[in-house]
Amino acid sequence: MSFKEQINTSRLPNHIAIIMDGNGRWAKKRGRLRMFGHENGTKSVSRTVEAAAELGVSHMTLYAFSTENWNRPKLEVQTLMKLLIKSLRKEIETLQKNNIKLNAIGNMDALPNKVLIELNEVIEKTKTNNRLVLTLALSYGSREELVSVVKEISDKVKNNIISKEKIDESVINEHLYTQNLPDVDLLIRTSGEQRISNFLLWQIAYAELYFTNVLWPDFTKEDLYQAIVNYQKRERRFGKTSEQLN
Ligand code: IPE
Ligand code: IPE
Ligand code: MG
Repeated sequence: MSFKEQINTSRLPNHIAIIMDGNGRWAKKRGRLRMFGHENGTKSVSRTVEAAAELGVSHMTLYAFSTENWNRPKLEVQTLMKLLIKSLRKEIETLQKNNIKLNAIGNMDALPNKVLIELNEVIEKTKTNNRLVLTLALSYGSREELVSVVKEISDKVKNNIISKEKIDESVINEHLYTQNLPDVDLLIRTSGEQRISNFLLWQIAYAELYFTNVLWPDFTKEDLYQAIVNYQKRERRFGKTSEQLN
């Protein structure tokens, strides 16, 4: 039986987040430049997002560029930004066809203007779509996000907009870049690395983690289905005992 057939569509994860890793190694294995891997990685993005939408997953968040990735060689950063512009232009059709709404999280001020213009255009064009919310994490770092939350909340306390006693988890949630998104249920990382790399630290508090050796450009719809089947076999206890759940 294929993995797709094993999926229980009434128990899908609401929110799947993916650390798309391994583009460079994929290219290296083929004796090609890292960019060749990034280009092929965009094809995996299309298939994966389409697979999620077809299944009925309501939220997908993709780690596309981290705050730490700014430290890569200048040429790689520049070419990644160009690739981003190209992909946004190209993918608008697929987004519309599949009724997908685009969203972005991260420090947008750090992105080149050209990327911002393209990004905002796609966000605007897809804003009424409602089958799947696709969030791109761009120039995203969870620690930076938390710093911005603390700054915003402390400003509000200083200006008497909120009292210190009223600060609770929901107030923090409302100030995160992900304010309108549900908690992550399933976090997937490709390429065999087993680390979080500063992605959604607060939001993955109770996510199920799934690591696969598949390199991102090789990731197929079937790989996504396999991750979901694996997720559905787990018991999410949220601190309770197994007996309490039944
Ligand atoms: C992930 O692939 C893409 C980005 C971080 C932009 P990598 O570029 O990290 O590929 P590896 O880890 O070097 O193989
Ligand atoms: C994480 O991948 C960031 C993205 C996938 C965008 P990296 O390849 O940058 O992570 P580390 O540095 O190896 O942990
Ligand atoms: Mg990597």
